[in-house]
Amino acid sequence: MELFKVYSLFNITPAKAKGCYVWDDHGTKYLDLYGGHAVISIGHTHPHYVSKITGQLQKIGFYSNSVINPLQEELALKLGDLSGYPDYQLFLCNSGAEANENAIKLASFITGKRKIISFTKGFHGRTSGAVALTDNPGIIAPFNETENAVILPFNDLEATENELKTGEVAGIIIEGIQGIGGINIPDSRFLVNLERLTKQYGCLLILDEIQSGYGRTGKFFAHQYSDIKPDIITMAKGMGNGFPIGGMIINPDIKPRSGMLGTTFGGNHLACAAAIAVLDVLKEEDLVENAAQTGSYLKSRLEEINPGLPVRGKGLMIGIEYPFEIKDLRNKLLFDHHIFTGVSGKKIVRLLPPLVLGKAGADEFLAAYMNIVEDIEIQDQN
Ligand SMILES: Cc1ncc(COP(=O)(O)O)c(C=O)c1O
Repeated sequence: MELFKVYSLFNITPAKAKGCYVWDDHGTKYLDLYGGHAVISIGHTHPHYVSKITGQLQKIGFYSNSVINPLQEELALKLGDLSGYPDYQLFLCNSGAEANENAIKLASFITGKRKIISFTKGFHGRTSGAVALTDNPGIIAPFNETENAVILPFNDLEATENELKTGEVAGIIIEGIQGIGGINIPDSRFLVNLERLTKQYGCLLILDEIQSGYGRTGKFFAHQYSDIKPDIITMAKGMGNGFPIGGMIINPDIKPRSGMLGTTFGGNHLACAAAIAVLDVLKEEDLVENAAQTGSYLKSRLEEINPGLPVRGKGLMIGIEYPFEIKDLRNKLLFDHHIFTGVSGKKIVRLLPPLVLGKAGADEFLAAYMNIVEDIEIQDQN
């Protein structure tokens, strides 16, 4: 049987990994500044993570959501404590898109309204509702086209208020920091005003922290740089450090009803064990603070090396925007220097390393990067 080829692949086969490093099947070592798309939070194969998952697997790996699972409660407690939302309620699922799908549905159930607002360059996933709210016509199938999804200009308060005036809006969804869209940070004033407007017009504010959450930006959630408390916060990626798990946390004023949401696999024993291990390590190793510190060092060095180039982001979620296409630059980093990086569009390099990256790892990247940038400058001058 052939694979259904929807991905463009690098000709590299990772065979093992540890911390911020990945080795391929020939034994070549790579520095991972991509984290498998912002997924690796506590580092590859962290011993506590491996032992929690294997230990759990030897006891019970799965049972359905028709019985008590104390691991879900432990996860909720630890997440509430570390995120600063101890009074919120947790609903568990399996991926980012699924978390957003449930958030959209919940907003619609609660308000009795049918429209959701999202913003240009936003990305919310590939399931029906989430993809309709994603600003990329190339991934929206005719089946997913709906007037219930309203995509408005990023940071445009007036357009948002005009749409809210229709009285049909159930919620507004926005990323803590836009990832795929190019590391775009919403204005703090915009977020504060969104919170005010959602209250005024009787709808919910949903923060998509799937990429920007779980400590990546130097706060547990990126929106915590602003003075807001969203109604719903969605998460996935770093939550399981590679084990598929997603979730949303929900304001205590929103009351559940039996059967309102549901999932077969969401919150299973193995996924909870993985997610608990992640929170243990984030806390024990103070990784949110490490992301803040290493991130600010990396960002300021990048600004020095590239005067005049926009270097955006917070913590270990950094984008560097070039006036030219960066395929060659990334290929040089990957194939000559063995460093994985991410990308947004054709001109933005996106750095999303594991949150355990320290100054030494950052310097390793910077040395290779300076080497390539000099090459590019020489070529430009010729
Ligand atoms: C901000 C954001 N929301 C949602 C998603 C979708 O998550 P998943 O691929 O786990 O469905 C992503 C994935 O990249 C994302 O970056």
